[in-house]
Amino acid sequence: FKEIRTPVFEHTEVFLRGVGDTTDIVNKEMYTFLDKGGRSITLKPEGTAAIARSFLENGLSNEAFPLKMFYITPCFRYERPQAGRLREFHQFGAEVYGSASPDTDAEVIALAKKFLDNVGVKDIRLFINSLGCQECRKKYNEALKEYLSKNLDNMCDECKERFEKNPLRILDCKNENCKKICASSPKITDFLCDDCKKHFESVKSLLSAIGIEYTVNPDIVRGLDYYSRTVFEFVSGSIGSQSTVCGGGRYDSLLSQFGGKNEPAIGFATGIERLLLLLENTDNLKAKEDTLKVYVAPVTENEYKDAFATVNLLRADGIIADTDHMGRSLKAQFKYADKIKAEFVAVLGEEEVKNGTVNLKNMKTGESKIVKISEIKDEIN
Ligand code: HAM
Repeated sequence: FKEIRTPVFEHTEVFLRGVGDTTDIVNKEMYTFLDKGGRSITLKPEGTAAIARSFLENGLSNEAFPLKMFYITPCFRYERPQAGRLREFHQFGAEVYGSASPDTDAEVIALAKKFLDNVGVKDIRLFINSLGCQECRKKYNEALKEYLSKNLDNMCDECKERFEKNPLRILDCKNENCKKICASSPKITDFLCDDCKKHFESVKSLLSAIGIEYTVNPDIVRGLDYYSRTVFEFVSGSIGSQSTVCGGGRYDSLLSQFGGKNEPAIGFATGIERLLLLLENTDNLKAKEDTLKVYVAPVTENEYKDAFATVNLLRADGIIADTDHMGRSLKAQFKYADKIKAEFVAVLGEEEVKNGTVNLKNMKTGESKIVKISEIKDEIN
């Protein structure tokens, strides 16, 4: 997987067409502005549509397929903030272009799982579903509309609008009444055509073959319009209501939404802040600290220049080293070195400068010895 970076903002059109103009993300959550040229621009609410735009604009279809990309990006959604839900957050995601094979679905899901396992996420469940192709969706939409039409009077105004434009989006509605009505609606999995059914069966058997446990949840429709066939979510049992840490799926016709030559694709994104919430208070979250290896302490001002030169010699050997920049006394320098957890302090006095040595103190053991400057690196390892 190679890194791809897209700009923080895009023409609003990219998300209107990509994410879909009946989704909550586009309707309610986008930070959209006019720039000084009067163009409508939007802070990226997610990474996938921006990458699809970049794929077409930069002719990435000439790359060797499958094209595997990853990204870490800031995202912006105007949602009501709460634990795990922020207006500015970050996603780590991956996208694979060019393969329509169910193997790729299984590979991408396995990659997301491996990533979550490796960072130490526990108590996580995988839910999968298939949203079928445009043909399956057509039949499903009809059945869904027929069912919903009987309940439309009891639904919220937004859902009445969604009913006409994109009935599938009604299944995302957070209104309690609408949710109740949706609970017994027809399920997309009963409307899959033979090819989509076969694809979904293959994904499931590949996941089982590599020991990945999953639950089929026909209610997962994801909040973005570009999906087709496989969709999935990793949900944690240990964070509150914002429990989906990772979501993704196949989007085989997104490029054609932008008027480009179509290529099948699939990917996922995890919310980094949600991951951090899950990992809070675990050892996995402790950053590896690069502590100072050698603090070079000049005894008086007279040794400053030599201390500076010694630090630069050590740094040239890749050793993390520093010296005084604050005019501190030797005692204060030791105090400072202790505070920043320096492993060694190399004291440089008049005598040491004359002999090309330092008095090297191991801060852990308290032992000191005179060492040639050229031999410090052997001494500290
Ligand atoms: P999404 O489900 O909208 O999918 O977002 C992916 C993840 O981003 C969520 O599972 C969640 O962890 C995190 N996330 C979303 N909104 C917020 C928020 N307001 N605050 C904190 N974290 C948040 C996508 O964005 C798709 N682009 C994923 C994808 C990639 N599908 C195919 N390729």
